[in-house]
Amino acid sequence: MSVSPQRPAFGTVLTSHMATANYRDGRWGEHELVPVGPLALSPAAHVLHYASTCFEGFKAFRHADGSVHVFRMDRHIARMRQSARMLVLPEPDAAQLARMVAAVIDRCREAVPAAPGALYLRPLLIGTTPNIGAAATPPADASLIVLASPVWDYFAGGMKPLRILVDAHNTRSAAHLGMVKTGGNYAAAMGPTLAARAKYQADQVLFCPGGEVQETGAANFFLIRDGRLLTRSLDATFLHGVTRDSLLTLGRDLGFEVSERVFDVGEMLEWAVDGEAALSGTAAVLAGVGTLIHGGQEHRVGTGEVGPLTRSLRAQLVAIQQGAAPDRHGWLKRV
Ligand SMILES: Cc1ncc(COP(=O)(O)O)c(C=O)c1O
Repeated sequence: MSVSPQRPAFGTVLTSHMATANYRDGRWGEHELVPVGPLALSPAAHVLHYASTCFEGFKAFRHADGSVHVFRMDRHIARMRQSARMLVLPEPDAAQLARMVAAVIDRCREAVPAAPGALYLRPLLIGTTPNIGAAATPPADASLIVLASPVWDYFAGGMKPLRILVDAHNTRSAAHLGMVKTGGNYAAAMGPTLAARAKYQADQVLFCPGGEVQETGAANFFLIRDGRLLTRSLDATFLHGVTRDSLLTLGRDLGFEVSERVFDVGEMLEWAVDGEAALSGTAAVLAGVGTLIHGGQEHRVGTGEVGPLTRSLRAQLVAIQQGAAPDRHGWLKRV
C-alpha cells in the first residue's frame, strides 16, 4: 500500500461521530449517534473471549457536484447479516443498519473527502454478554457500531505491482467460515503473511489449500487476459467480495468471457506467463500482481508490471463509483 507523506494511512483516522445500537431481551433498541470514544464493555464480554464478532467495509464517494453516494450498501448489509447468522449472533436489522450508516454520513458529511478519496464505512457487531463460561453458548446481548474513516487514494504513490507468496498448505480460516467477515480469519492469516513478508518480501499470501487457488488475507484473486476473466467460484471457503461481483458484472458488460470455477496453482502459473493477475477489494479496488512466489521460485506475471487490462478495469469501476461514468446497475445510493 502506498501512503503519500501528508495523508494518514488507511483506517487510522475516524470521523467525530459513530452510531451505536444495542440488542437486549431479543430485540434491537433505537440507535444513537454519539462522539467516537471508548466503549463500556465488561472484561467478561463474550466477544473478548470467544470472538463473537463480524464487520463490514465499504465506501461512500463524493461526486463532483458535492453529493455523497454509498457503493453497494445493500450487498454489504446483506453480507453482514449473513456473517451474523453464521456466527449465531443477533442479526442486524437491514433498514436500521442503513439508517445508522446514513446518520453517520449526514453528521460527518464535511469529512467525506473529494475523489480520489472516499469515506470508508465500518459496521461492527460484537457479542457483549458477560460470561466467561459461554464457549459453546452464543451471546444473548450484542452491540452494533458504525464507524467511518476518511481515506485517500490507496495508490497515491503509483500502482506498484504486488509480490504474492503462493501458500498451498495453510488455510486462512475454518473451511465453513471463509465467507464470514470475522476478526478470527484475519488473525489466522496474520502469521503466514508476516512470515512471507520476512522471508520473501511478499506483500500478501495467496492461500491455495490443497493446491486450489482461493484468496489472499484481505482480497479476492483474479486472472485476466485478452477478453477473459477467471476467478474462483463461490463456496463457503472464501469471502464473497462485492468488488469481485462488481468486476465480474463490469467484465460481462465489456464483453469479457467470464469464468467462475475452481482452478489450481499450475493453471495460475501457466496463465501468468503472458496474462495478468490482480487482487480485488473495497480498499484497493483492483491491484495488479507482478510476481508469484511458489516453491521458492519467482514467477513473473506478464511483464512484471501492473497489466493494462487490470488498469483499465480498475479505472472503469472507479469512474462509476466517483460519478464520472453512468451507474447502469444502480450500485450507488445517494445519502
Ligand atoms: C478476506 C477478504 N476477501 C475479499 C475481500 C474483498 O471484499 P470486498 O470486495 O467486498 O471489499 C475482503 C475485504 O475487503 C477480505 O477481507
